Amino acid sequence: MDATDPNRGRFIVFEGGEGAGKSTQLKALVARLRESGLEVVSTREPGGSPGAEALRDLLVRGEAGRWSPMSELLMMYAARSHHLETVIRPALARGAWVVSDRFADSSRAYQGAGGGVAPELIEQIDAAVVADTQPDLVLVMDMPPEAGLARAQARGDMENRFESKGLAFHARLRDGFLRRADALPQRYRVLDADRTIEAIAAEVWASVVAAFPDLERRT
Ligand code: TMP
Repeated sequence: MDATDPNRGRFIVFEGGEGAGKSTQLKALVARLRESGLEVVSTREPGGSPGAEALRDLLVRGEAGRWSPMSELLMMYAARSHHLETVIRPALARGAWVVSDRFADSSRAYQGAGGGVAPELIEQIDAAVVADTQPDLVLVMDMPPEAGLARAQARGDMENRFESKGLAFHARLRDGFLRRADALPQRYRVLDADRTIEAIAAEVWASVVAAFPDLERRT
């Protein structure tokens, strides 16, 4: 897939730790892009396709020690492969925009920085599975893990396996996201997620328009 093809859709990803408000911001952005007349596919990881959602259930529920970081990594990329093949690539090819709640940087942060899987191995698998379907823009929703975990735990749902991994794990993965964003400043924006929903949404939109200036002509 040629990322420079003007007819190809654009691929935007929200990333961040637990309870950072990604899903709320994703919904607002998707609505705004649709108002601009774009076809937008709103999706998430792990999941986003029926096969990948089945893997999600195995990954996000149960005891923290149920899977090693290596097992998690391979399952995350198995799910990602199916999601790419059946949802993301067909959408981008027909000109739709794809907005995903998490993607491969969550594997780098959670299984790599947090879980200790070697970065070189993650990059080898990523090169084979994601290949040139890399996101055009990654919005990292950043906040202290203490605050994010408190918010996530207040939701009280059953998808809490990663939340239960402890504060040190969550501090490492936050650093992982920030280091990745630092290394690739042209494709990444770090947003302070510890603000009002409206303030963050305004910065999300400004970041998206800055990355895709043609959008302004549509609005
Ligand atoms: P969510 O709570 O944001 O829907 O994400 C589900 C959990 O899966 C979250 O705790 C982060 C974790 N995760 C990984 O550990 N690695 C990955 O590659 C992805 C996509 C998610």
